[in-house]
Amino acid sequence: MIELENVAYSYGGGELFSDISLKLSRGSFHFLTGPSGAGKTTFLKLCYGALVPTAGRVGLFGADLHDMSRDDVAHCRRRIGVVHQDCQFLDHLPVAENVALPLTVSGQDKPTELVNLKELMSWVGITSRAGALPPELSGGERQRVALARALIMSPDVILADEPTGNVDWEMSQRLMRLLIELNRMGKTVVIATHDLGLIRATKAHVQSRVLRITDRRMQLAGADL
Ligand SMILES: Nc1ncnc2c1ncn2[C@@H]1O[C@H](COP(=O)(O)OP(=O)(O)OP(=O)(O)O)[C@@H](O)[C@H]1O
Ligand SMILES: [Mg+2]
Repeated sequence: MIELENVAYSYGGGELFSDISLKLSRGSFHFLTGPSGAGKTTFLKLCYGALVPTAGRVGLFGADLHDMSRDDVAHCRRRIGVVHQDCQFLDHLPVAENVALPLTVSGQDKPTELVNLKELMSWVGITSRAGALPPELSGGERQRVALARALIMSPDVILADEPTGNVDWEMSQRLMRLLIELNRMGKTVVIATHDLGLIRATKAHVQSRVLRITDRRMQLAGADL
């Protein structure tokens, strides 16, 4: 689905990381960890074509990012649902409209799709908050709204950047259960988190690999985690 080959990235100063080669195949489940500032968010941005690597190549769904037109990249991005670290919403629009925004923007807000919207909101447990404005939500509700918005276009790949930041343990477990369930439906899942306790607790329930960015390299974490 997403393939990186000898990828390096630099924002202009020194190299943040280099020589990253890996495949995120269909139906796989990966954790991405590493200290704050190691480059987890940057790595995810490379995976959905928001950043272009400074060296190496990124392949999205079998095509090379370098050879793609803007339209091609936009098309690929529709197949990737991103839960952003800061989960920004349009604060003047109710929750349901925020979740539906990717549909509205792509002109797909037909009645059939709006049925899916209802189902999705119920699945993540935010139906009762559909009419609320984003500033009225709790941290856990915000994270679930962000997840619903990432899923509304039925993506094949879900990239979740600290999806459990600012929520309590029980809520983070609940969010993880949703992500595991999505993986069981065949979706490729990548979760960036610095929370090793969460990784340990989740690993028992899903076959996963743990990627760790340290010393400007990507390593596969061992069983010692
Ligand atoms: N747009 C940017 N311009 C310049 N430097 C940036 C930019 N975005 C991020 N950086 C720097 O790149 C490094 C990696 O940032 P990144 O957000 O990828 O780390 P992270 O591992 O996600 O950290 P955190 O755990 O705090 O979310 C940091 O030192 C950051 O300051
Ligand atoms: Mg980050």
